[in-house]
Amino acid sequence: MTDSFTQICDLADFEDKEVTLAGWLYNSRASGKIQFLILRDGTGLCQCVVEKGPVGDELFEQLKHLAQESSLTVTGTVRADQRSVGGYELAVTDAKVISPADGYPITPKSHGIDFLLKHRHLHLRSQHQWCIGKIRHTVIDAIRRFFNDNGFILIDTPIITATAGEEVQTLFEVDYFGEPLHLAQTGQLYVEAAAMSFGKVYCFGPTFRAEKSKTRRHLTEFWMVEPEIAFINLEGLLELAENFVAFIAAQVLQNNKNELGTLGVDVATLKKIKPPFYRLTYTETVNILTGQKTKDFLAGQLKGLHQEKQQLENKIGELEKQQAGQIKQWQKDKIAAELIELRAVLAETNTRIENNPKHAKLAAEFQWGKDLGGSDETIISQMHDKPVFVTHYPKQAKAFYMKTDGDNEEVVLNFDLLAPAGFGEIIGGSIREDDYDLLVARINEQNLDIENYNWYLDLRKYGSVPHGGFGLGVERTIAWLTDQKHIRQCIPFPRMMDKVYI
Ligand code: 4AD
Repeated sequence: MTDSFTQICDLADFEDKEVTLAGWLYNSRASGKIQFLILRDGTGLCQCVVEKGPVGDELFEQLKHLAQESSLTVTGTVRADQRSVGGYELAVTDAKVISPADGYPITPKSHGIDFLLKHRHLHLRSQHQWCIGKIRHTVIDAIRRFFNDNGFILIDTPIITATAGEEVQTLFEVDYFGEPLHLAQTGQLYVEAAAMSFGKVYCFGPTFRAEKSKTRRHLTEFWMVEPEIAFINLEGLLELAENFVAFIAAQVLQNNKNELGTLGVDVATLKKIKPPFYRLTYTETVNILTGQKTKDFLAGQLKGLHQEKQQLENKIGELEKQQAGQIKQWQKDKIAAELIELRAVLAETNTRIENNPKHAKLAAEFQWGKDLGGSDETIISQMHDKPVFVTHYPKQAKAFYMKTDGDNEEVVLNFDLLAPAGFGEIIGGSIREDDYDLLVARINEQNLDIENYNWYLDLRKYGSVPHGGFGLGVERTIAWLTDQKHIRQCIPFPRMMDKVYI
C-alpha cells in the first residue's frame, strides 16, 4: 500500500511534481479562503495548503471541520518553501478522509505529565515523543553497529535467572513452576562465560530491577548493553567505553539534526563528546566533594537559581496579565500552554533551590567508603563539560564480582561513567575477580548462596583469564543526549516503581 504514497521525508525529490501523502492531521488552521493542514506521516511533518478553487466547496468545508489525528490522504504539488516545516509544502488539489477522529484527548496545548503518561499510546504521536523515538532508534543502531564492527559477538542472555548479578534487594521474583527465580538484573555473568568462548562479546536487552527509588534516573525495566572482553585491563576498558559513547553521540549528531533541533538540544555540547574523557579516582572525587571547590560551586549555583526563579516569576506575571486582557481565544490557549510549561520549570527551580543546601551538606560530610549518592554524582557531573570516569571505588561499596586492585586492597578495579551537565551515571563496569579463592570469599562475604554460583566459579577453574566489561543504560544515555529531565520519556512505555500506566 505504501508504494503509491510519497513519504514526507522524500519530498525534496518531488519538487513541482504531484504526489499523494498518507497520514494523520497533526494540526490545522484556517484563514478565510485558505487552510493550512499540518500532516504527519511517520517520516515528518508537511504543511498542506488548501484553497477553495482547486478542491471545490464541498471538500474545502469537509477539511475545515476535520479534527486533529483524523487519517487522510492528500494529493497536491510539492513547492519549496523555507518557512514551512521540512522546507516543502503541498499545494493541495485533492484529499480523502480515511477515518475521522473525534475529540482526540491530547490537544496541541500543554498537558500535565500524569495525563500524558496515561495517554502514552497516543502521546507517542507527538513531535516530542517522535523525536525521542527517532533518536532512540539511532542510539540502539549505533550500539549494535559499534560492537558488530569491532569484532564483538552478540550473546543473548536469559531473562529468567537463578543468580543475582547485582544487589539482591532489587530482584523481581518469578514463580517458576513453584521455584522462586528472578528476572535478570544484568546479563553480565552469562557474558563472562561467553567471553571465555568468543573473546569479545556483548548482550543487549531489557533488564529488571525492583528499585525502590522514584528518581528521574530509575526505571524498573530498562535496556542495557553489556560488552565483556577477555584479556583486558582497566585502562583498556575505559578506552573502549569512551570510544563507544563518543560513537553513539556522533551517530546521533549525524542522523538526528532535525530532531535535536526540535527538542532544543544544544548541539555544541554534543560535539564535545570526544575522547579522552576526564578521569578521576573515587578518592579524588571524595576530596573534591568535601573540599572548597564544591562549596564554591554550589554557592554559585544557588545564586544562579535565585536569579532564574526571579526571571521565571516575572515572565509568568507578564503572561498572566496578557491572559486576563482582551485577546483572541487562540492567543489565550497559547499563553495557557506557555504558562503550564513555565510553572513546571519554576516548580523545578524551587526544588533545586530547596535541595541545594541538602546536597551541599551531603557532599561536605561524605565519608570515604560509601557509594556515591545521586546528588554527589550530579555535582561532579555538573562540574564537567565532558563525561567523567570515576574509578577505584572502595571494595565494600561494590558488587562481589569486582576485582581487588593489586596496588591497594581497599579498592576495586572498577569505574562509573558520569555524563556531564548533571545527568550522572550512564555506565557501570569493572575488571572481574578472576581468582577462584578470592571470588569464593567475596560471594561468602556478601551472603550469597554459593550453590547458585558454581557454574560461574567454573570459569575461574578452567583457564581463568583477566577480563572485564561494563553496562550502559540506554534510557539514561538518551535522556542525557536529548536533554530530558526524566528517563521515563526515553522508553516508549515506561515502567516506574510507583506506577505502570499502560
Ligand atoms: O552499574 P550497573 O548496576 O552495572 C551492572 O549491571 C553491571 N552488571 C554491568 C556490567 O558490568 N556488565 O548498571 C549499569 C547501567 C547504569 O550505569 C545505568 O545506566 C543503567 O545500567 N541502570 C539503570 N537505568 C535505568 N533504571 C535503573 N533502575 C537502572 N539501573 C542501572
